[in-house]
Amino acid sequence: MANVGRNTPVRKFDAVVVGAGGAGLRAALQLSEAGLKCAVLSKVFPTRSHTVAAQGGVGASLGNMGEDNWNWHMYDTVKGSDWLGDQDAIEFMVRTAPEVVIELEHFGMPFDRNEDGTIYQRPFGGHSMNFGEKPVQRSCCAADRTGHAMLHALYQRNVRANTQFFVEWMALDLIRDPSGQVLGVTALEMETGEVMVFHARATLFATGGAGRIYTSTTNAFINTGDGLGMAARAGIPLEDMEFWQFHPTGVAGAGVLITEGVRGEGGYLLNKNGERFMERYAPNLKDLASRDVVSRAMATEIKEGRGAGKEGDCVLLKLDHLGAEVIDKRLPGIREIAKKFANVDPVKDPIPVVPTVHYQMGGIPTNYHGEVVVPKNGNANSVVPGFYAAGECGCASVHGANRLGTNSLTDLLVFGKASGDSIIRFLKENPGLKDLPKDAGDRSLSRLARLESQTNGESYAEVAKDMRRTMQMHCGVFRFPDTLAEGVKKIREISDRVTRTEIKDKSKVFNTARIEALELDNLIEVARATMVSADARTESRGAHDRSDHHERDDVNWLKHTLWYKEGDRLDYKPVNLKPLTAESIEPKVRTY
Ligand code: FUM
Repeated sequence: MANVGRNTPVRKFDAVVVGAGGAGLRAALQLSEAGLKCAVLSKVFPTRSHTVAAQGGVGASLGNMGEDNWNWHMYDTVKGSDWLGDQDAIEFMVRTAPEVVIELEHFGMPFDRNEDGTIYQRPFGGHSMNFGEKPVQRSCCAADRTGHAMLHALYQRNVRANTQFFVEWMALDLIRDPSGQVLGVTALEMETGEVMVFHARATLFATGGAGRIYTSTTNAFINTGDGLGMAARAGIPLEDMEFWQFHPTGVAGAGVLITEGVRGEGGYLLNKNGERFMERYAPNLKDLASRDVVSRAMATEIKEGRGAGKEGDCVLLKLDHLGAEVIDKRLPGIREIAKKFANVDPVKDPIPVVPTVHYQMGGIPTNYHGEVVVPKNGNANSVVPGFYAAGECGCASVHGANRLGTNSLTDLLVFGKASGDSIIRFLKENPGLKDLPKDAGDRSLSRLARLESQTNGESYAEVAKDMRRTMQMHCGVFRFPDTLAEGVKKIREISDRVTRTEIKDKSKVFNTARIEALELDNLIEVARATMVSADARTESRGAHDRSDHHERDDVNWLKHTLWYKEGDRLDYKPVNLKPLTAESIEPKVRTY
């Protein structure tokens, strides 16, 4: 094995994929089946990646339960995005969705079935028939464990295709040559602390979200925005980071997800007076309005004194009327979660729920081929050679200001596969591996050396706690100009503190502590991008709701934010309202 820089060992691959969730595995499968030498790096065993937690289903207009088509799916997605989604990427996603779902079925994914053997589909928030008329059944599911079933199907398929897995390896930094081309990553083996360069002709980030910048989230502990942090440090901007989805139904006090599939199957929300309050906020789709609308309605009920529970700080999700048989067949995981985390059996009692941070709509800017694109020499969308992103860490942008439930799994399948295809094309056109820069690896070694030599610093865990509290208090469901401005000040101070953190008590939990300290380097970039972008956007759109600017402002703000780490700089680029073949869906007032 060759070495580089300060003696860092190097391994060579055609492609390196960082992250083994749905997007990473779908892309890797494409690459390995094409005969390429593909490495997948993952902080956890692949089937424990956060996709495993996806419950309610994957959106595709199969039309198994009644009429449906991609035009309706497209309309719902554009409207859900509050018109911030790019319509070329949205058309590509909704048209490709049926094909990637059927492929999964053929890979052996155990979807729920209808009597006639077709895949069962359930209703979900914001999905409608005939351009908003009434709910449609579009979510293809495996009970309430769809992500689990999907990851297992994809992992097994990758094993068959000889994908090379590097399990419990954390990627540290992106490697770019002086021309800007991406040539792989540095990574740390978590057990031994060994650092290695993964030298590759193409690099795909599929590192998932960063919900751990908040205190209360449905996200796993591994969701620390590693891809976003690495991209930001390498000079790549982050797009639309002000838009964070609060899922309406996290278990109160625990944050664990209760799938929207509960409302899809007929459950509904009640305030403390037993009122089905969504009828007032969304008279047409009611509890199946899109997530930003339902989360704001719940927060308003609680704020105005109609919250349930001892403290009046939650609302109730009622599903007992579905009956034990339906609950055990369609929502078995939910019954288990409610018993364990809320101490209620939903067959008898409602579940106390609150809006909880769930999904980042923004990310590393890409086109719908999964290629990373940045503004350069007057071109707003110049491709970064050799660099791709897919899944929650990428921003194509199909979710705009608010994602529709089930479109996360659709996104990771469609864009995972598309980026695999783009990489295959790129490798054909660009044979050979470019040389690594002499100092490849040195930046990571310096970060590690600082962590290990720092004394008299603050505990990284304390600093992380302050970051989470600040995000929760200053950048929540409802946003206020003064708290946002103060949030920017605080998060910049915390960002300074991150550079002086120390791993206390190195002897005890050294490797775990070191990983968490390295993760904080990534989280803080995401937190800063979020707060700075949110403070600057003076309108309300989708999940970004400002008390001083209640309305959407298409004249000034129908544009994507780009945040650069260097100097906390903001730039903007236009939203693409032009689909590939369909007619443009022009912005209009959004009601449900
Ligand atoms: O509610 C859910 O099952 C979550 C689905 C999603 O975020 O797409």
